[in-house]
Amino acid sequence: MTAPIIELVEYQARRNAILTQMTCNSACVISANKLLTRSNDTEYVFRQDSYFWYLTGFNEPDAILVLLKSATGLGSCIMFCQPKDALAEIWHGRRLGCLAAVEQLGLDDAFDNTDIDSALPALLSGVDAVYSLYQQTHLQTRLNHMITALKQVPKKSDLAPSQLIDCQAWLDQMRLLKSPAELAIMQAVADISADAHRVTMQYCQSGMNEYQLEAQIQYQFAVHGARSPAYTTIVGGGANACILHYTDNNQTLRDGDLVLIDAGGELQGYAADITRTFPVNGKFSAQQAALYDIVLQAQLVAIDCLQPNTFITDANTACVEVLTQGLLELGVLTGTLADNLEQLTYRQYFMHGLGHYLGLDVHDVGAYAVKGHSCALQPGTVMTVEPGLYIAPGSPCPAEFHGIGIRIEDNIVITNEGNHVLTHAVPKDRLEIEALMSTVRELSRQ
Ligand code: GLY
Ligand code: MN
Ligand code: MN
Repeated sequence: MTAPIIELVEYQARRNAILTQMTCNSACVISANKLLTRSNDTEYVFRQDSYFWYLTGFNEPDAILVLLKSATGLGSCIMFCQPKDALAEIWHGRRLGCLAAVEQLGLDDAFDNTDIDSALPALLSGVDAVYSLYQQTHLQTRLNHMITALKQVPKKSDLAPSQLIDCQAWLDQMRLLKSPAELAIMQAVADISADAHRVTMQYCQSGMNEYQLEAQIQYQFAVHGARSPAYTTIVGGGANACILHYTDNNQTLRDGDLVLIDAGGELQGYAADITRTFPVNGKFSAQQAALYDIVLQAQLVAIDCLQPNTFITDANTACVEVLTQGLLELGVLTGTLADNLEQLTYRQYFMHGLGHYLGLDVHDVGAYAVKGHSCALQPGTVMTVEPGLYIAPGSPCPAEFHGIGIRIEDNIVITNEGNHVLTHAVPKDRLEIEALMSTVRELSRQ
């Protein structure tokens, strides 16, 4: 199957949407990422800046996109990018170069990035406002220097732009609502990641190391087209699952323990973010099963709540009620439901949020609240739903539950009718997990 892609016209439409919002006689400047040094003269694998990628689909470092809107409202798109250079390309890889960039990226013009310091001030001279992303601090410093220099030109200081405006909110709102093409890619990466979770569940055996499951799941992502994980894979056996951002992944998986895997692939920049928790030996113990079913019920209730024009905070309230009620029934919490809810006692065992937006960033951009008012969910929003219970050793509850950490995380898209679970292909029902794991165990015994 060929992977879905974002067509050039969609990138152009995104740039035009920004141009439409800009005032006349202004410029918008967005930077690509730089290569990051790993050690001495070797670099980390390059990952493009998500905003730059969203507006261009161009995966080279050291480029700058400039959107210009004339005094009469005419828009144009210009890029500074790495020049063609035979020697550099022999050492470091192919470069698109200016000529091809204009055609392939649908630009009006492109210039060598070696000319930025002279050509960019010339483009900015005479515009009223410059839009940029304040979080791109490196570019921000450069723009400040350029504008300060323009201010100091004798008798022409009036040509320096007088406003520097952060345009992050525009881009975040656009990125929050996924297009059909983006959703097709997110479904594809969810499918690849779901298959990888299933295979890794079947692969798991007592005595393996956590990093063997990490290797297996990342191998599965890569061979099916999602070459990189979208974030650092978490594989936590036993009590390691109670460390929320555990990434050591270097302990032996023990018979009788659960293992939590939080892992997702990245496809064309878009992330999947799936967590499953399952028994190392393929069978849940009574205590593990009791806690697991509470988390699953809480997740299902939360997913049900997440509909168009609803609020994540309300889904969280419903989820927390199920968790608290379940912990009371097990004797992990004591007292009345009302008192426990009022005192937020669940927070000892569920200390993170219900979920987050998902897209080009695993913790994707987009406002959750504006001036203290929660934002209602809109169709096209993709988010995770990931309740958990983490009963760390030494917790103030019966010892039989100590060292059990459980999270169940799926990715959903809000639709006009309700929601769709992108990651439904990984089993999460306890009996389905046990059945999936037992088929392989039976086969390996024959
Ligand atoms: N994998 C990171 C998260 O679940 O938020
Ligand atoms: Mn997540
Ligand atoms: Mn996750």
